[in-house]
Amino acid sequence: MSIYAIGDLHLHFGCELKAKDQLTDPAWKNHEERLYRYCVERIHPEDTLVLVGDHSFGKTMAECKPDFDYIRSLPGKKVLIRGNHDMFWDAKKTAKLNREIEGMTFLQGNYVAVGNVALVGTKGFTFEGPYYLNRRGQVAGWDEEKKEHADRIIERELDRLEASFRMAQEDGFTRFLMFLHYPPTNILESKSDFTWMAERYGAEQVIYAHSHGEARFHDSIQGMNHGIQYRLVSGDYLRWRPEQILE
Ligand SMILES: [Fe+2]
Ligand SMILES: [Fe+2]
Repeated sequence: MSIYAIGDLHLHFGCELKAKDQLTDPAWKNHEERLYRYCVERIHPEDTLVLVGDHSFGKTMAECKPDFDYIRSLPGKKVLIRGNHDMFWDAKKTAKLNREIEGMTFLQGNYVAVGNVALVGTKGFTFEGPYYLNRRGQVAGWDEEKKEHADRIIERELDRLEASFRMAQEDGFTRFLMFLHYPPTNILESKSDFTWMAERYGAEQVIYAHSHGEARFHDSIQGMNHGIQYRLVSGDYLRWRPEQILE
């Protein structure tokens, strides 16, 4: 019963591709096929595959259908976290998605049990600028209005994450894997309210995606930090090989 994770599939089988650079970037060449082949070789039906956001560019269920069909075709039990591109997914209507879309579980405001481990998570958020640089290229300030807006989204996401932890805790779980689509910290931070929450609830690992393209791979924490394993699992970072996060 292994658990694997990968994010940012950016599927567009039935809709327009928003990230046009994907078409020419060699890292994304045939990525759906490469991911499928790797999954079929390694992942067993009893395993869990967590997809860590930015699944589909589809805005409607009809546009997303071929992307859901692809996700359904991957082996293992599929668990999905909401990403910033997932316009089909209204956070308040997650229960409806879970009722209507078969073959996968949408993780938002709930938790997923895998043996004695609870998978908890939410989209998360980080302030990504604009930052203002001084003459030496150092960050000297940022857009205050956008920062305030980001702080409001972060507050809401923290509440959602905590609801997920609490629900699992009330059901007796003491082991947690915490999933965020956004990195847990922005490029200037070494800790955040998200890392603090992971520590407070004793999460074993924090798994995130969203940072894709070489320049973004080191935007946030990776490796052991205050007793927690942090992992970036964006698809192009993993070269479309889902990371085994628990045996
Ligand atoms: Fe993405
Ligand atoms: Fe993203």
